[in-house]
Amino acid sequence: MRSGQGLEGVVKVSGATKNAGLKQIAAALLAPGETVLRNLPPVGDLDVMTDLLRSIGAVVTWTGPEELRVNASGDLTPEAPYDLVTRMRASINVLGPLLARCGEARVAMPGGDNIGSRKIDMHLSGLEAMGATIEVRHGFIEAHADGLLGARHVLEFPSVGATENLLTASVGAKGSTVIENAAREPEITELAAFLNRMGAHVVGAGSSTIEIEGVDELTPAESEIIGDRIEAGTLLMACGIAGGEIELTGTRLEHLEMVVIKLGEMGMRVSPTPDGLWARAPRRLRAVDIATLPHPGFATDFMPQVTAALSVAEGAAIVTENVFDGRFQFVDELARMGADVRNEGRHAVVRGVERLSGAPVRAFDVRAGAALVLAGLAAEGETIVHDGHHIDRGYPDLAGTLRTVGADVERLES
Ligand code: EPU
Repeated sequence: MRSGQGLEGVVKVSGATKNAGLKQIAAALLAPGETVLRNLPPVGDLDVMTDLLRSIGAVVTWTGPEELRVNASGDLTPEAPYDLVTRMRASINVLGPLLARCGEARVAMPGGDNIGSRKIDMHLSGLEAMGATIEVRHGFIEAHADGLLGARHVLEFPSVGATENLLTASVGAKGSTVIENAAREPEITELAAFLNRMGAHVVGAGSSTIEIEGVDELTPAESEIIGDRIEAGTLLMACGIAGGEIELTGTRLEHLEMVVIKLGEMGMRVSPTPDGLWARAPRRLRAVDIATLPHPGFATDFMPQVTAALSVAEGAAIVTENVFDGRFQFVDELARMGADVRNEGRHAVVRGVERLSGAPVRAFDVRAGAALVLAGLAAEGETIVHDGHHIDRGYPDLAGTLRTVGADVERLES
């Protein structure tokens, strides 16, 4: 990409395939019959999830450009193989549904990845509290349960994945389950609403206490996947970096409140519209400190992009990453573009420079890759982000979306 004029125009935010859709596809395993999911644009991780569901025995078909049907009527093989789990961490989301539906599950143990160690101890202890026996052998989680029982769990940390697995395991359990210190991300609220449409009794999703009353039967439902708040926030930051004025449709202020507050402190003006958000960038952003936290705090999935924005803001800022322990690898790539950024443990100090300089850089993960694309918008000359396939895991077409608002970005085939 090359830097140019400020951004201008209207963008429709894509459906949140990666962080909302994949979880609902996994939950479709709970109900024999056909589930229909819409507003599900294809991203890299979706291919892995559909491969996984097929290998489990579901029939997965596309019935429109963004409409997927999952038929989980037949006999299921409750296993998630190593090669798929290593390609996509959200594979762990089949553990709860498979255990609930089949009474057993064998899921390859996910390892760490490019953003940190990513343990799953809370998923496993929560399922054990519901009566499952779990062994980890030869790199696989082997879980068995002759009928799960409702239980009260207090999560040590509001983990998104653990909340999702406990939610999907408990909807068919005997009795009531309470998840305390539950994750409050909008994707959890959407998953709970989807489960309720399937006949589940879930209340409190979106708050720290979720209560689930087990039901005997779940039936397939339909779902319209929400707009991707991470894509929306990425576009707001692109506008902050490149300058200009954009409008986003298909998103909601309440999903992005902390980002909007912080961008406001950085000098942007962001207002809700009937169907989304309007944003205008100042001549130059101002530096503010950022600390990531679970929702409704400043999401870790915006940390790399805001660091890119801070690298050209006026002043110095401290960025603190509280959710993942290895998410700062990309700062060395930003530094290759002339950013003045230093990382020590969970903190980075960013001193804004007037202008970055375009360079070849490498994406280590989806959000770091997006951050480097954004940095390229503020860099003199051309920036080439290698390993762009990481970006494709979460954004259906980041380059195309940015082009619709006037950015000079293209996706080069590898
Ligand atoms: N953790 C544990 N034990 C557990 C579970 C989590 O120690 O049993 C720790 C993790 O190691 C991590 C922290 O808790 O340090 C947060 O993990 P969480 O379980 O909340 O994250 P996740 O479910 O693995 C999802 C998103 C991430 C997003 C996080 C936090 C998906 C597919 N992934 O991951 O998305 O950053 O929640 O909001 O929904 C991304 O989109 O770029 C991305 C990484």
